[in-house]
Amino acid sequence: MTGTPVLSVEHLSTSFARRGGTRSVVHDVSFDVAAGGTLVILGESGSGKSVTVRSILGLYGRRASHTGSVRLNGAEILGTPTRGLLGRRMSLVPQDPAGALDPMRSVGSQIREVLRVHGMAASRREARRRTVELLRTVGIPDPENAVRRRPHELSGGMRQRVVIALAVACEPDVLIADEPTSALDVSVQAQILALFVDLRERLGTALVVVTHDVAVAADLGGHVAVMYAGRIVEHGPTRDALARPSHPYTAGLLACIPRPGTHRGQLPTLPGRPPVPAQEFAGCAFVPRCPSARSQCEEAVPPSVEVAPGHTAACPVAAGRVKEVIA
Ligand SMILES: Nc1ncnc2c1ncn2[C@@H]1O[C@H](COP(=O)(O)OP(=O)(O)O)[C@@H](O)[C@H]1O
Ligand SMILES: [Mg+2]
Repeated sequence: MTGTPVLSVEHLSTSFARRGGTRSVVHDVSFDVAAGGTLVILGESGSGKSVTVRSILGLYGRRASHTGSVRLNGAEILGTPTRGLLGRRMSLVPQDPAGALDPMRSVGSQIREVLRVHGMAASRREARRRTVELLRTVGIPDPENAVRRRPHELSGGMRQRVVIALAVACEPDVLIADEPTSALDVSVQAQILALFVDLRERLGTALVVVTHDVAVAADLGGHVAVMYAGRIVEHGPTRDALARPSHPYTAGLLACIPRPGTHRGQLPTLPGRPPVPAQEFAGCAFVPRCPSARSQCEEAVPPSVEVAPGHTAACPVAAGRVKEVIA
């Protein structure tokens, strides 16, 4: 990666208070995202993806405690009030876009308000012009007419585009999208992903996209961080990590992708369920489902080893393979 990363996360851990102790959900997560770069956070439901991005955005306030570091353009933001940054420097397309829009107001007035609050438009007229332009940017047909619509008058795909328009209104340095397409049908999904890539190319927006879908990761490219039970188990260039998965969990996820010619009933599925993060594992949390687990895996969390340039995996089996190649 060249230059200073726009977003740098180091050893981030998040836990929540609960009766009789704390529940630790995210453990020792580290990654960098370059300006105009892409990071995909990939993992099954419950692996801690949303808690990771919401922690980065500072959305839990006092409800969570964090350790580690989150730097935006070099400045520490973890544990500091991020209100002023949200929207302007970093913004979120949330997992549930329904809650992001006010059902009572036209989409145009909601976007104009964001532009005004962040000083992105000098006059009402300028705000109106930029709002129409934003709706056009996110691919909403007839934007002059769409600004007058209330959210329920638009289709699900169009509402999602309005939420994205809100998130990009202030041209943030980092756009974080949490499962932005999982509620949409496949053709709309592809359009939304193309839109993100377009924003990245035209505005230099760095993308952090959370997904459980390997195909979405493959489409976006960039780098991928594969999460399991609150930890990154594999991390590297997306093409490399998906073509040559080094952690048995990543390999398992890839084996579950439906391929043309297979019937649903024949699909391999990853046996067992993701662990509850509160479960304390001394070692690798994937052991109960891992086809290659060794006794050492239960004793301590395996260190991340570089399996290819910039590609790491936290697994002694992958590490062993690297040693064989070198020897
Ligand atoms: N506010 C919270 N308080 C306590 N536990 C939480 C909270 N939010 C999420 N969790 C737990 O953290 C784990 C990871 O959740 P999440 O990050 O939402 O997973 P993902 O987005 O990967 O599906 C889950 O077991 C979930 O129940
Ligand atoms: Mg989630």
